[in-house]
Amino acid sequence: MKPVRKAVFPVAGLGTRFLPATKAMPKEMLPIVDKPLIQYAVDEAIAAGITELVFITGRNKRAIEDHFDRVPELELELESKGKEELLNVLRDMLPSHVNCIYTRQSKPLGLGHAVLCAAPIVGNEPFAVILADDLLDSDKSVTRQLVEAAHQHNGSILAIQDVDRSQTDRYGIISGSSVDKRTTSVTGIIEKPEPTKAPSTLAVVGRYVLEPEIFECLRNTKPGVGGEIQLTDGIAALLQKKSVFGYQYEGTRYDCGSKEGFFRATLDLGRKYHGLS
Ligand code: UTP
Repeated sequence: MKPVRKAVFPVAGLGTRFLPATKAMPKEMLPIVDKPLIQYAVDEAIAAGITELVFITGRNKRAIEDHFDRVPELELELESKGKEELLNVLRDMLPSHVNCIYTRQSKPLGLGHAVLCAAPIVGNEPFAVILADDLLDSDKSVTRQLVEAAHQHNGSILAIQDVDRSQTDRYGIISGSSVDKRTTSVTGIIEKPEPTKAPSTLAVVGRYVLEPEIFECLRNTKPGVGGEIQLTDGIAALLQKKSVFGYQYEGTRYDCGSKEGFFRATLDLGRKYHGLS
């Protein structure tokens, strides 16, 4: 498999669960302590060796572009006041070999459609997809874990987590056979099945390494659950022709698209990284 150089960040959703906070501000800019969700995701990608960051944006998402841009007057101000530490925080945000590319999803037609918007930029190589509202705290970047698994198994990789059966209707759920302690060879995937109909309790969370054949599959995907073009349905088509694996990553996940997950992340990361209590 070719190296994974590009990561796609779909950030065009409406973020309705966080209204009114997300009325004029992107959900991905909500901070956990002092860092917006999208920056945790970008840091994780960079730690995985990704050099091209592809953001799928929509209306009201300009703040994300501004966030990753330089602000010379702010840097001058910090410099003149001798605030070296803060200055370095700003300067080190993006290494010079990393590029940001922005494209728009004109309507939020679903995650699968958002990923398809990246096709002309990604081209014919494997790529990562990172959903910033799933914050994954780990010693080793979860995206790096997935990239390594993709090379080891020579196929697409979905990050998976074993969830309580009562929660299967919140996730894409896979079926398949175990390959090793962390890896499952995927034979089926279904979006948000009712607990009684779920083929397993292995849920897909917001990290993927996908082979470029996914784009053709997404082009042929009809709207599914919620009338949206679902990435899950595209993956269901992909596994008819290419190998797809689920990988139980090492790390703690916070569903920051929900208020409870966001609150927990703030408490846990505030304690762990900022000494707050
Ligand atoms: P969510 O299902 O969390 O939707 O999308 P949302 O709109 O962001 O939030 P709620 O449910 O209304 O509160 C999962 C991810 O997919 C992106 C979102 O930005 C989020 O990162 N997404 C979703 C898109 O980029 N485009 C879409 O059409 C849908």
